[in-house]
This record gives sequence, C-alpha cells and structure tokens, in this order.
Amino acid sequence: MTMSNFHPKQPVEQFPVQQILAYNWEYSADRQRLMRLYENAKRDQWNATSRLDWSIDVDPESELIPDIAIGIYGSPMWNKLTAKEIQRLRHEAITWQLCQFLHGEQGALLATAQIVDTVPWYEAKQYGATQVMDEARHVEVYRRFVQEKLEHEYPVNPELKKLLDMILSDSRWDMKFLGMQIMVEGLALAAFATMRDTTTNPLLRDLTAAVIEDEARHVAFGVLSLREFCQNTSDKERAEREDFVYEAAVLMRDRLLNREVWQTMGMDADACVKLSLQSPLMAEFRRRLFSKIVPNVKSLGLLSDRQRARFADLGILDFEHNTTSDVDQDAEEEQRRQLNAA
Ligand SMILES: [Fe+2]
Ligand SMILES: [Fe+2]
Repeated sequence: MTMSNFHPKQPVEQFPVQQILAYNWEYSADRQRLMRLYENAKRDQWNATSRLDWSIDVDPESELIPDIAIGIYGSPMWNKLTAKEIQRLRHEAITWQLCQFLHGEQGALLATAQIVDTVPWYEAKQYGATQVMDEARHVEVYRRFVQEKLEHEYPVNPELKKLLDMILSDSRWDMKFLGMQIMVEGLALAAFATMRDTTTNPLLRDLTAAVIEDEARHVAFGVLSLREFCQNTSDKERAEREDFVYEAAVLMRDRLLNREVWQTMGMDADACVKLSLQSPLMAEFRRRLFSKIVPNVKSLGLLSDRQRARFADLGILDFEHNTTSDVDQDAEEEQRRQLNAA
C-alpha cells in the first residue's frame, strides 16, 4: 500500500521579510482580558504524547470522514468508481486535507513567532508566546498522524501558500493578526469542528478536539487585540483591511480545492474541480467555514456597507449575527466555573 512520496525537492525555503521589532519597557498588565487568556493558556497546556492514544489503529482507506465530504460524491463520475478506487480516493483525500492542516499549522507557528516580536503590547507578547507553543504542538500532532498513520504526504496547496506568504511578509503586526487569527484560524476552527464531529476514528477525533480547544483561544486573542487596534484607524486604513479580508475570503472559499488529489488519482482534475464547485453540498460546506469569521470581522468594525454587499455576494453575510469568539471564550469559562462549583 506504499504510495509515491511527495517530499519537496527543496526542504528549506528561505526569503527575507521586513519586520518592525518592538520592545516594550513598560511591562504594563492593564489589558485584563489578554492577561486572563494568558492564565487560561498556561492552565490548559497539554502533552500530545500522553493525552492521545497513538496506538489506535487508523485505516486510511476506510470512511474516516464521511464520503459526502469528497467533492465529486454522488456525481456520475463518483458512481463510475470501483470499490478499490473509492478506497484509494479516500486515502488521498484525507491525506491531502491533513497535510494542508499540517502546513497551515506551520504557517501559524511562524506567524505567531513574528507577532511576539512585532506587537507593541506586553500583554500580547506574553499571550503570543503561549500560542507559539500551542502551534508547535499542533505541528507535532498533525506531523505524527500524517507520517505514522497515512503513509505519504502532500506539499502545501499553492493557494494556501499564497495566503501564508501574504501574512508572513506583511510588516504590519495587525495584518498578521487579521490574516492568521481572524481569517485562517477562524476558518480552521470551523473545518476542525466538522472533522471532530464526523470522524469515525477515535484518535483523529481526540486529536482534533484537543487542537480546537487551543484554536478557540487563538481566535479570541485576535479579536481582542484587533478590536482595540481598529478603534484608532483612519477610513483609508480600514478600507485597506476590509479589502484584505475580502481577498482572503475569496481565496479560501473558492480556491482551496484539492486539485492535487484528482491529479494524483489520474482523474480529469478540471472536471472534478468543476463538480466540487457546482455541488450544493460542497458549496454549503465552504460557506459554513465563515460562521465565525463574519461576526468577528463585524465586531472589529470591518463590515461597512461596501463589505456587506461583497459578503452578501459570497453568501456569507447571514453569519453576522453569530456570537464573536471572545464571547464564546467567556461562555466556556463560565461553564467551566459552574462545573467546578457543582
Ligand atoms: Fe494551530
Ligand atoms: Fe492556532
């Protein structure tokens, strides 16, 4: 069952980026909500070696996640596949998806390390340091799952790479928050939740649930930091940030498709991509990825009439009334307090 290997020819990729380094000599601890988030992050650190049962068997050819999540599911093209081909397609699709999670986690690790350097607030540097550790652990668990359980690897998807490059090469710290914590992690939170709720494998379920605990905090970190920043921006700066959010949204909704899977399978990649874009099921799945992004963006003041019209065109505006991620965090803490008191 050994598959061909996809290791890149050039394992280390380097390029210069501009950074504005910020010391903070004041060490102020006035941002209470960030300080509280830091306390929670310390309390909730976990060890992937002991928390997860790595001895659990994973059969990548089984329906680890429902076939319905495969872009061409139910189409004439799908119906023509033999049982053996479906098994292979499942293996490729789950491998592609988890490899993109892995590469995205590396992007988050690098972006958060940059945030620690560039964010001017001491409280955010302190919290950011916990996120760096969280992301290292996320890279650890996806790397281990992919290498030990799935047998081969996919390189980073070109569209995801483009988005990560945009975030990592922008010298403005708030753009890193906007790109990583609000957009990429907001989307990841929704994608991970679907995986946790639908996977049939207990290791994949527990791993994903553990990562989600951290990601929910990361998105709240972005919301709290940017809400303060955005209160003091000019109209021009705000418009620029809205454009950045919109571009990232389009990229994530319509471009993050698993073309590489169809190519590996030797199928007609253009036809498969077209089918996944047309499938109402897949469209709804992609739309749902924005359920937290939209209310969060709104709470930052980045939902002007111009942006509302564009979000309406993308079919994601109706998420604007959902709760924001900082409110979700507070609710979770309250639940925890009540549980502990009981
Ligand atoms: Fe992460
Ligand atoms: Fe994260």
